[in-house]
Amino acid sequence: MTTEHTLGVLGAGAMGAGIAQVAATHGWQVKLLDRNTDIVDKAIDGIGSRLQRSVDKGRLDAQDAEHAMARLHATGNADDLSDCEILLEAIVEDLDAKVDAMQPLLDRLPQDSIIATNTSSLPVTELGQRLGVPARICGMHFFNPAPIMKLVEIIKGRDTDQSIADRTAEIAASWGKQVARAADTPGFIVNRVARPYYLEAFRCLEDGLADPKMIDNTMKELGGFRMGPFELTDFIGHDVNCATTRTVWESWNRPSRLMPSLIQEQLVAEGNLGRKTGAGVYDWSGESPVPIVRSGHDANTVSQADMSAISAFTELATDATAEPIQQVIFTRILCGLLNEAMWAHADGVGEEADIDIAMRFGVNYPRGPFEWILNIGKPVVTTAMESLEQMTGTGRFCPPS
Ligand code: NAI
Repeated sequence: MTTEHTLGVLGAGAMGAGIAQVAATHGWQVKLLDRNTDIVDKAIDGIGSRLQRSVDKGRLDAQDAEHAMARLHATGNADDLSDCEILLEAIVEDLDAKVDAMQPLLDRLPQDSIIATNTSSLPVTELGQRLGVPARICGMHFFNPAPIMKLVEIIKGRDTDQSIADRTAEIAASWGKQVARAADTPGFIVNRVARPYYLEAFRCLEDGLADPKMIDNTMKELGGFRMGPFELTDFIGHDVNCATTRTVWESWNRPSRLMPSLIQEQLVAEGNLGRKTGAGVYDWSGESPVPIVRSGHDANTVSQADMSAISAFTELATDATAEPIQQVIFTRILCGLLNEAMWAHADGVGEEADIDIAMRFGVNYPRGPFEWILNIGKPVVTTAMESLEQMTGTGRFCPPS
């Protein structure tokens, strides 16, 4: 006989509903709470429609969908949480709001239950302290949309019991997720290591290397990335992307590598937030996107020695052939990512294997950064970075010693 497990989810918005769907389809009973039960009912209807679409497409058995729906329970009563092995909060990204909403639920939960948070930017340790449950708190950071994105970052707070972090990781894995363990630091792994993908692309634009389309195509064709940096930031929203950059940059003492981009901040100030407002780097109103952000004019010339370091890097990093300018763009952006991964590792944010898993499954990179370094070879990566540092002179390409 198998034991029934029960998850409580506080907050039935985009993430809460997605996580509830994941757990219910993996055999867990789920109790969903929000500010009022109408929101929860709507969330459960939404899950029903999504599961039905999966059944229609032949991806899910009709009976499995029915069983998953039967495991979802709307509740407006905190007493219903008394059998929850874990409570996962997914409400608004505000520490005070999270404390206020979670505090009254704590004494209804079993004493040894896990208190999990889906926060993408708040300190897990501080949330645990303020709630008076420092040993039971754990970050369980899903990515949007939760039923599709494979990664969950597990964040052990400073005072979290190892057994709580281990059990949280085990639960995520039992729900079919890839797990990356990350330290309780700003941006965790993914939201920190991914920054140069956007920032270095904007800096290539500022330096007048190419127009947005060429930069996007270069990263897709040479790097195998699913979306170019500008298509992606237009999709995410420049307000959201810029705010994350600013938080990570400020929390890590403003390194030049992570400095926000002036062009991107300008887009936010103008209200050109991306697809959601109709325009960002591209105008999305027509059939295909048209670049509207111009590149700068001070394209720097590349010395022969620097170009040969860049070509050596490109040859080992990709099978695709590329013009010299594409090689420069590709090497700048990819070296930016590899450098940030090395810094994150040096700062104790995660093990190399966890950083690779996080980037492959949290943002669908074709390879993990350390896998890339291994394939290209550390000496070639180092030489390329030295050349880039020489060319840009900003301290952006100086790996940790
Ligand atoms: P959302 O706005 O879609 O949903 C939030 C839900 O929380 C709403 O249904 C709201 O009614 C409810 N809520 C707000 N205050 C409440 C309270 N005091 N008591 C009960 N329910 C309350 O937000 P979303 O996008 O689902 O984000 C939730 C959390 O997940 C945030 O911490 C966010 O940073 C994090 N996150 C979001 C991701 C995303 O891409 N949207 C990705 C990963 C994490």
